[in-house]
Formats: sequence, structure tokens, C-alpha cells
Amino acid sequence: MNANSRLEIFHTAKPQGKKIAMLTAYDYPTARLLDEAGVDTILVGDSLGMVVLGYPDTTLVTMDDMVHHTRAAARGVQRAPVIGDLPIHSYDTPEQAVANARRLVEAGAHAVKLEGGADHATQIAAITAAGIAVVGHIGMLPQSVREEGGYKIKGKTPEAAEQLLHDALAVEAAGAIAVVVELVKHEAMRPITQALRIPTIGIGSGEDCDGQVIVIHDLAGLFPWFTPKFVKPLATAGATIREAAAAYTAKVHGAS
Ligand code: KIV
Repeated sequence: MNANSRLEIFHTAKPQGKKIAMLTAYDYPTARLLDEAGVDTILVGDSLGMVVLGYPDTTLVTMDDMVHHTRAAARGVQRAPVIGDLPIHSYDTPEQAVANARRLVEAGAHAVKLEGGADHATQIAAITAAGIAVVGHIGMLPQSVREEGGYKIKGKTPEAAEQLLHDALAVEAAGAIAVVVELVKHEAMRPITQALRIPTIGIGSGEDCDGQVIVIHDLAGLFPWFTPKFVKPLATAGATIREAAAAYTAKVHGAS
């Protein structure tokens, strides 16, 4: 299946009133399990810096990291569109954005994602013009967490909500096929979702979105040391692994 037919859901779901379920995956077995489970789309997010590589935030993730993990995840997926995340400073200029988007596509991504609103419209337009689909990302931008001093809710004042709407429209006008909207005050979401033709994919932004995304480790309880407030884990995979490792260790020790 070519990239365009895989990405069809981004064009058909919203007019049909269907919500889009996006999850992250960073490796072959997880991506394959999510694909087999029927998840609509898989994001190889730079959140891998935290939940896979053990960094405090996403700002240390490199293009080489993203290419490596996009390749691994894409090998496990036969059906769902795979979105590769452009890491910090990999899209500072439109030229650099296009070159790095091509690297993610060569690694198996069907589209790329980047953080930023109107201030990154030229990058989104350049990647789109190069024939690569782009997912935008507005609201709380994890790659800016150090400047922001933490993961803070966005759109709390009427002016901030207006700015978010402006950013969302700019991302759409630049050619994005969807926009992730992170940690936005729930009341600010409805006008954005209603104003856009492209789907809004929320994370910690309430129900008034055209789809939802979360990190698989948060959903599956695979990073039990921290769970974002807006996530309700649906499994306890971390505890299961710990128990299996303890049982195995006891069995091996018992055999000595
Ligand atoms: O990096 C990531 O996984 C993301 C999602 C959480 C939206 O950007």
C-alpha cells in the first residue's frame, strides 16, 4: 500500500464523524501489536527519548535516534500509517526540514510530525511541497519544555485561546493533514476542532478533538514511575514484566 492510501484516514474520518485513535510505538514488536490491534495510526514520537532512552525530556533526541526507531517500528506495520517525529533542531530551516523529513520517509514513515504553529508554516509548506505529508503539533510543545519551565496547560486566557486557533489555521493553510493539540484547556478545543477541515488529535486536551493520541507506555503501564494526569492506563505491563522477571529469578535460584 502506498503512503497516500495509508494516509486516507486523515481525509475521510472527520467528514464521516469517525474519531482517529493514534498511539506511539518505537520498536518492531510494539508497532506490530498495535497494527494487529487495529490502531488507526502509529506515531514514532520523540517521546522515545523519555520512555525508551531514559532522558529527562525530548530535547536530547537526535535524527539518528528517530531514523533508527522509525525503521524498527515500520518493519512491524502492514496496515496503519506510520508518522515519524522530527526531533528538536532537525527542522530549523525549510531546507533542513525537507532533508530530514526525507530521511524519515526512507526509514519507513508515511508522514512526519513537527512542533510549532504559524512560526513553522514555511517548514510545513516546504515538506508538503516535497510530496511528504505533515502532521502539525501545537499547544504545549515538549521540545520547548526547558524554555517553558515545565509541561503547562495552554489556552487559559481568551488571547491564548485565540493564538492557538490562529496557529491551528496556519498549520492547516500550510498543508498539514492533521494537527496534534497537546495540553490545551478543554474549553479552548471546540472552536479549534470546529474551525479546521483537518482532524485535531488531542493529548490531554479533552474530548472535543477529532482523535486522541497517547504514549503506549502510559496506556499500557509500561513506565510505572510516572503517568501523566490525563492518562488512565488500561494495562499493567510494567508490573507483569517485573513479576515474570522475579518468578524467573526465583526459579533459576531455586534450581541451584
Ligand atoms: O513524541 C510524542 O510521542 C508526541 C505525542 C505524545 C503527541 O509528540
